[in-house]
Amino acid sequence: MLAGKRILLIIGGGIAAFKSLDLIRRLRDQGVKVTPVLTKAAEEFVTPLSTSALAAEKVYRDLFDLTDEAEMGHIELSRAADLVVVAPTTADLMAKMAHGHANDLASTLLMATDKRVLIAPAMNVRMWEHPATQRNLAILTGDDVLVVGPDEGNMACGEYGPGRMAEVPDIIAAIGAALGEGPLKRRHVLVTSGPTHEPIDPVRYIANRSSGAQGTALAAALRDLGARVTFVTGPADVRPPIGVEIVAIETAAQMLDAVEAALPADAAVFAAAVADWRVENASESKMKKDGSGQAPALSFAENPDILATISKGQSRPGLVVGFAAETDDVVANATAKRARKGCDWIVANDVSPETGIMGGDENRIVLISQDGAEDWPRLPKDEVARRLAQRIADAVAG
Ligand code: CTP
Repeated sequence: MLAGKRILLIIGGGIAAFKSLDLIRRLRDQGVKVTPVLTKAAEEFVTPLSTSALAAEKVYRDLFDLTDEAEMGHIELSRAADLVVVAPTTADLMAKMAHGHANDLASTLLMATDKRVLIAPAMNVRMWEHPATQRNLAILTGDDVLVVGPDEGNMACGEYGPGRMAEVPDIIAAIGAALGEGPLKRRHVLVTSGPTHEPIDPVRYIANRSSGAQGTALAAALRDLGARVTFVTGPADVRPPIGVEIVAIETAAQMLDAVEAALPADAAVFAAAVADWRVENASESKMKKDGSGQAPALSFAENPDILATISKGQSRPGLVVGFAAETDDVVANATAKRARKGCDWIVANDVSPETGIMGGDENRIVLISQDGAEDWPRLPKDEVARRLAQRIADAVAG
């Protein structure tokens, strides 16, 4: 998918620089041309020779290297790529970028480029959390700089927390998303995911056991096929994917508003486990025991059916996919649900506790369309997502 793309890779000075060598190798495996630039500090961690050998390209190191200027000026170098990636991005590089410094080759290229820039920050947890770094981050995201990571974990310096550079596959996924390549290029896909929370009072709510894993994996798989993804998510356990537009909501009513605001779309996938009911008499203030031993009476109102509303609405996407979580008569119930809700496909699964599907890593689905029911083998949720995304791409772009 990335074959033929050109990336200008600026390697900053940090212990994570060694991972950037692996990044070069894996990008080249995919047919990407990588032009590496080393900062002075980076040369303390990786050598120009190993970088150049892995990239099979000249390594650029110095702004005032006249040979380089004769071959390719720094302005041209900054624009010859499809994307500029800075990995690792140190606190110092972030500060330079945020404030427009141009006092070495890397910072000058970053000022001169007309391409999008993706940074993969890596630094000590205190440095990452420092207000100065967070201010710089806000400036950079405001400037449309893309950010991948940092991850949380044990750090080379012995501390724990956010600051580790994102893993190479995540950086590659972010590069793919930044370049918007794939069969769903220029297509807009909407995905709902996770549970909803329906308040009882300001501190209590009704929820369900959805982790958001399947919806999150689907959004990432659609992104990897080049789609612009709007990801409308309830409070899920899993982190939302990078490189998608995240709209965080809590209630079913907010989810419907967010979905309607995100239309039009070429396809919409409703993977969320939306609460069917909300508490009609939710209290504005915390409900208290009154000492009488009398439990409060909650009354319920039905939530809007988001999938049915959109399927039957004016701005219906060309392809509408619903999910059906069933415990009995999966195919019969899901087939009836498809007709009732007016969607094109239903992804049905058996969520009986003994299947371990709800909240688990695997899924076994039956895809129901106008052509009938198609049984899929039990697969990891990521793989189900990739296959479904491909089917969506075939239907939308085919
Ligand atoms: N759905 C929705 N809005 C709701 C309820 C469900 O958009 N208020 C969507 C879900 O995202 C899913 C599909 O409808 O794509 C089916 O969800 P499911 O919970 O299986 O169905 P229900 O409508 O709750 O039907 P039932 O309670 O009869 O199983």
